[in-house]
Amino acid sequence: MASYPSTRLRRLRANDWIRRLVRENTLTPADLIWTVIVSDRADPTEPVPSMPGVERLSVAEAAKSAVRARDLGIPAIAIFPNIDPSLKDEEGSRADDPAGLVAQCIKAMKDAAPEVGIICDVALDPFTNHGHDGVLENGQILNDPTIDRLVDQALMQAEAGCDVIAPSDMMDGRVGALRAALDDEGFENVLILSYAAKYASAFYGPYRDAIGSSAALQGDKKTYQMDPANTDEALREVAMDIEEGADMVMVKPGLPYLDIVARVKAEFEMPTYAFQVSGEYAMIKAADANGWIDGERAMMESLLAFKRAGADGILSYFAPFAVEKLNG
Ligand code: PBG
Repeated sequence: MASYPSTRLRRLRANDWIRRLVRENTLTPADLIWTVIVSDRADPTEPVPSMPGVERLSVAEAAKSAVRARDLGIPAIAIFPNIDPSLKDEEGSRADDPAGLVAQCIKAMKDAAPEVGIICDVALDPFTNHGHDGVLENGQILNDPTIDRLVDQALMQAEAGCDVIAPSDMMDGRVGALRAALDDEGFENVLILSYAAKYASAFYGPYRDAIGSSAALQGDKKTYQMDPANTDEALREVAMDIEEGADMVMVKPGLPYLDIVARVKAEFEMPTYAFQVSGEYAMIKAADANGWIDGERAMMESLLAFKRAGADGILSYFAPFAVEKLNG
């Protein structure tokens, strides 16, 4: 083992050129998936109070964001809808609306910048009046009836031109059902990015404000999202989703779960993504606004941390801001 004084690790840190030369991990635009909130009432944008710098976008603005992503070199955008409360119901019946907000956004974005990958969430929560991701009956989220609805939703998305189906609902067996349905309908080239290890987290709060589901949410999501105390269970979730046909897997939230990211990447050697969720974004922005931390540096450091942990990419609301920073 090398030891002091013949070894002085500070020699490798003495100047910018040597620090760059020995740097083990880097962040590039190609590591980022930009998470974008869209709304059927944005005219053309409206701020999300708990996420300073993030706005809900109209369909036309969503199309512009696809052009912006292309120009910045961001490979893909993940879209999340805020729909008019009057369209929400017990069953989330608008989740597969072929004329709805999500279908309109996919088409407008693919028209504007076909080079940018479009990723869509598969889950019912933006469309249900109770805010849950699945079919609710007598206080229970029903697994298999939910899967039927998710299949309808995903087929609508694929039909509209979505490139990547991303189930975020955490029902058992949905990846296999989605793969089979997509293949049956001729969408064998549509990818599945599974929210494989998704925890029941307090860090989703600002997102629920952003899509307008927080006020109505009854109870919590602990019967389908994972217990933050568990690690082995995350590996079982990921293993099953890969077995069922997931092309890529995700861990969510991000920074508090880097141990899971590292373990999943090491164990499965699959394309592995981490979601730096709304609460992580909000914390950095809030501390920055108070002058308590340097928000830009915290943004870049947190994104790099995902790469160090082994993530192949990061879903983040910071994506365009981070690329602008990378480009100087
Ligand atoms: C729901 C969904 C959630 C997020 C993405 N899809 C929240 C939840 O499970 O309640 C969270 C995203 C974020 O916090 O940025 N299907």
